[in-house]
Amino acid sequence: MATQKNRGALSIRNVTKIYDPEGVNVMAVDNCSMEIAAGEVCMIVGPSGCGKTTLLNAIAGFHSITHGEILLDGELLCGPGKPKADQGAERMVVFQHGALFPWMTLAQNVAYGPMVQRTMRKKAALEKARDMLAEAGLGDVTDKYPGEVSSGMSRRAEIVRALINDPKVLLLDEPYRAMDALTKSIMHESLLETYDRTKVTIFFITHDLEEAIFLGDKVHVVTTRPCQLKKTVTVDIPRPRTFETQSSEEFRVLMEEVNEAVHEEAIKAFQAGERELA
Ligand SMILES: Nc1ncnc2c1ncn2[C@@H]1O[C@H](COP(=O)(O)OP(=O)(O)O)[C@@H](O)[C@H]1O
Ligand SMILES: [Mg+2]
Repeated sequence: MATQKNRGALSIRNVTKIYDPEGVNVMAVDNCSMEIAAGEVCMIVGPSGCGKTTLLNAIAGFHSITHGEILLDGELLCGPGKPKADQGAERMVVFQHGALFPWMTLAQNVAYGPMVQRTMRKKAALEKARDMLAEAGLGDVTDKYPGEVSSGMSRRAEIVRALINDPKVLLLDEPYRAMDALTKSIMHESLLETYDRTKVTIFFITHDLEEAIFLGDKVHVVTTRPCQLKKTVTVDIPRPRTFETQSSEEFRVLMEEVNEAVHEEAIKAFQAGERELA
């Protein structure tokens, strides 16, 4: 079993990001610091428009930051003027909206990364893709096209597509946002099972508090824009977690604690007139 207890530690140190569209400064993140241990599931919750995606994009190397630094296992990933998107495979991102190629089967989609990066030959990549899809409960649909499977299956395949590159960190930006409650709970079980198997470090943005506590080791509540760390709640509910975990007393107590912190920030965001971002 592949585990990664000793890799995937993220340090977000005094990060500030100011956008400058047409000369108007927008401070999205302000002096934000977080430490995420190797193999930790770190959940980020905060109001819409507060700067969560901006922070994730910096970790992913999609843009630079204005001040501060982001380190992965002690190596500089991102600083002022220094995004390193070339190390992308170490930090695989799964977005809110599906990003599978519709003209490729699920197995071809999963095999695509290692094939273009030339880390595996086509036959071996497809074989590994099929094995990994089967592990994720998608063994019957490996040769189907994304349009032929449910949205839940597509999401699971996307996570497999990220994991085939053996990333140090999996970056997830509200991946289950648009899903109904039932599909979401199946996604949660599947992600927990994947995590228990791989122990990959996960940085997961959500506005669903139950999701945050059910999945996370830590829940970092962030402030209304500009994004700063407001409060960290440690979820010491043992793994493996099951559906019943969510009806336990300790779960309810944690919900209250997180809810209180998020609610304060939601009111501030509402008063500041932050718009809902898609
Ligand atoms: N490329 C950009 N240029 C200018 N402003 C941006 C850009 N991307 C995001 N913003 C602004 O930065 C703030 C934070 O956005 P974002 O990080 O997407 O928030 P969240 O993910 O928490 O909803 C918002 O006010 C948004 O309008
Ligand atoms: Mg966002």
